[in-house]
Amino acid sequence: MMLEVTSLTMRFGGLVAVNDVNMSVSRGEILGLIGPNGAGKTTLFNVIAGVFPPSAGTVSFNGNRIEGKSPDVTCNLGLARTFQIPQVFTSMTVLESISVGAFLRHRNFAAARAKATEVAERIGLGSRLEVPTSSLTTAERKRLEVARALTTEPQMILLDEVMAGLNHTEVNQMLELVSLLRDDGMTVLFVEHNLHAVMKICDRIVVLDHGVKIADGLPKEVMEDAGVVTAYLGAAVSSDQENADA
Ligand SMILES: Nc1ncnc2c1ncn2[C@@H]1O[C@H](COP(=O)(O)OP(=O)(O)OP(=O)(O)O)[C@@H](O)[C@H]1O
Ligand SMILES: [Mg+2]
Repeated sequence: MMLEVTSLTMRFGGLVAVNDVNMSVSRGEILGLIGPNGAGKTTLFNVIAGVFPPSAGTVSFNGNRIEGKSPDVTCNLGLARTFQIPQVFTSMTVLESISVGAFLRHRNFAAARAKATEVAERIGLGSRLEVPTSSLTTAERKRLEVARALTTEPQMILLDEVMAGLNHTEVNQMLELVSLLRDDGMTVLFVEHNLHAVMKICDRIVVLDHGVKIADGLPKEVMEDAGVVTAYLGAAVSSDQENADA
């Protein structure tokens, strides 16, 4: 297994955001992590990425224990991430912004730029290198996030809601990009609300609900799972209720 999460729990005060979760990702796999709002997806993602140490449990990457290690350490080991809210440096050009990640492996400025340019071209930002990041569309910013992660030359990439806010065409373009990563042999863990996208691209799906893993299997199996259907319907009903109450 490339990534192995064992008995992972994350508490925020009295709230158990992730509750005793076991999960693994094998090399070359595309794993989707889904669940209703507040299920604990981003929290689990953040613990894996080293944003904060878990309350209990372990995370191993290629056999190295990484829980509690800082993001630069995990990134150095080959595990890169994007952010749910794109962290763009608006004053920088696209090329400069993408180059930031490349400095992890390249000390030399020209080499970092060359790497950034290569990645940008690969993921469809090649014609936008010199524009300021502030002028990018939402879809382009999501690509920029992926590009920045890729310049660190990871073995595995963690994507958090890269389809959010995209229209149908842009979602399909992002799916093509993820397929491209798969062709490059990249291992991918992605958190996603867009179930259509998840069904289309993932080899396997893990479902969280209230911090607990309620399903883990092939996309088709998971979508037909009664517990998963109930979790999603329950979430839909309670948000309708909140809207009715508001
Ligand atoms: N830093 C934090 N401090 C306190 N509570 C938090 C923190 N981060 C998340 N939570 C809580 O943990 C629970 C899980 O949140 P999380 O953001 O992981 O869910 P999610 O599945 O990513 O939801 P969404 O689909 O809305 O992105 C929620 O109840 C949330 O309010
Ligand atoms: Mg989230």
